[in-house]
Amino acid sequence: MRILISDDALALACGADAVAEAFAYAAPNAEIVRVSSWGMHWLEPLVEIDGIGYGPMTPTDVEAIIQCHSRESGNPDDAGARSDAQLDPRFHGDDIERLSIGRIADHPFITAQTRLTFARAGRTRPLDLADYEATGGWKGLRAAQAMTPVQIVEAVTASGLRGRGGAGFPAGIKWKTVLEAQGTRKYIVCNADEGDSGTFADRMLMEGDPYVLIEGMAIAGLATGARKGFIYIRSEYPHAITKIQAAIERSRAIVAPFDIEVRVGAGAYVCGEETSLLNSLEGKRGEVRAKPPLPAHKGLFGCPTVINNVLTLAAVPFVLAEGPEAYANYGMGRSRGTMPIQLAGNIKHGGLFETAFGVTLGELVDEIGGGTESGRPVRAVQVGGPLGAYFPRALFDTPFDYEAFAARDGLIGHGGVVVFDESVDMARQAKFAMEFCAIESCGKCTPCRLGSTRGAETIDRIIAGEHVAANIALVEDLCETMKSGSLCALGGFTPYPVLSALHHFPEDFR
Ligand code: NAI
Ligand code: SF4
Repeated sequence: MRILISDDALALACGADAVAEAFAYAAPNAEIVRVSSWGMHWLEPLVEIDGIGYGPMTPTDVEAIIQCHSRESGNPDDAGARSDAQLDPRFHGDDIERLSIGRIADHPFITAQTRLTFARAGRTRPLDLADYEATGGWKGLRAAQAMTPVQIVEAVTASGLRGRGGAGFPAGIKWKTVLEAQGTRKYIVCNADEGDSGTFADRMLMEGDPYVLIEGMAIAGLATGARKGFIYIRSEYPHAITKIQAAIERSRAIVAPFDIEVRVGAGAYVCGEETSLLNSLEGKRGEVRAKPPLPAHKGLFGCPTVINNVLTLAAVPFVLAEGPEAYANYGMGRSRGTMPIQLAGNIKHGGLFETAFGVTLGELVDEIGGGTESGRPVRAVQVGGPLGAYFPRALFDTPFDYEAFAARDGLIGHGGVVVFDESVDMARQAKFAMEFCAIESCGKCTPCRLGSTRGAETIDRIIAGEHVAANIALVEDLCETMKSGSLCALGGFTPYPVLSALHHFPEDFR
């Protein structure tokens, strides 16, 4: 019997280690394999036995699953050392039915996806080089090694890949800028400071398929002439840090002379902003730098630097291995390829859903996510992290696409979708946005540093019913100032959640 159990941080948090231990005890002859997560979070700890999934499992379910599974398979050896024991008559097919989801690969949540970046999710052992190679690993790097830097950059440009950190800037143009920049030293920096609320795709990728990120960075090095890369990971991701470090050691010879080091951030949201991240990497205070100069011209230690998000770099091996058209064939408009969307908050079927751009918000929330976990009607959905707008049901026809969201005063950001039911108080959510900005502000510019605190106070007055109309006008005016007068997205984008709450849910501000 081969039993696959994820060792991803979410699975561990749900008790995967205890379930694995229970299987090791109950079926000592079984092979227990720790794999990446499929990303169906509501089913974790999810266990796969001979292709069939069972979840969410608890240690007390293990005996039932083994007994029923050995009875169904007709192979008493499946019960391991306990095969000569009487099968406990208390365990029936009902136990399997309660937990079985059938073949995991055939589950509607999986078959509805187009997994290009997360193609290995749930299927491979994260640190196993043989698993990686057997599933197409290093194919993109080998293709890139046979190309000139200009050809690699052209392939990435032709794929239409845009920055998955949130801004959606074309990756090929950024790489071209670094390729053409003068400098004896250049760097590839991977932004793994995933700070958006409700997002976890970077973490899942680093924990589940770390070599694909390493391969993407090595390709970026070949494309731009950089021989050194840094991965800046937030300290809140200890499992990702351990996995990436181990993967770097094991693949060092494969990507040489390209070399990668991990740097651990101390937990400031603003260090996900690229120039603040570069300051932090250099050992300085994580404060935002004015642009220009762009990091592509003058980045880490003053050298030309590609700085891309985990998901951007991890998409590159597919582009080089299968050709830019294979990637560009997916998507809509200027949003090409796929987006690993993260369904979170009050949602029945939360998890990682990678799909081509174009799926509507309503499909994501109602059909794929199954509505709220509480069973109450969905009232609001925040897309794009804490700086993203709140969308009401009336806007659920918005397709997941950079431009379509921007046209409705929103952003897709890093692909986080956080669902709220009818119990949410949108005035308090608006205040939360201002408070978040006040706490995380680096303090460099006035609209963000002071504006966010004044904004939270003013929303408090609205909630208390003091001069409501005048205070709403004041908040709107303040938001305009923050939008136009802030140096970076933290101060500049905080108005999105505040104004969307005000405009789409005015009844909560009366
Ligand atoms: P931006 O629009 O200023 O820049 C986007 C990227 O393109 C940057 O790397 C910039 O250096 C580069 N770039 C711009 N013009 C270029 C040129 N001509 N040549 C080469 N490179 C060029 O946006 P920014 O401030 O970097 O990011 C804002 C986004 O970050 C927001 O949309 C937000 O969604 C997202 N965000 C993501 C978070 C996460 O956890 N992933 C957290 C907070 C914000
Ligand atoms: Fe710092 Fe806020 Fe200004 Fe960004 S907007 S530079 S976080 S003070």
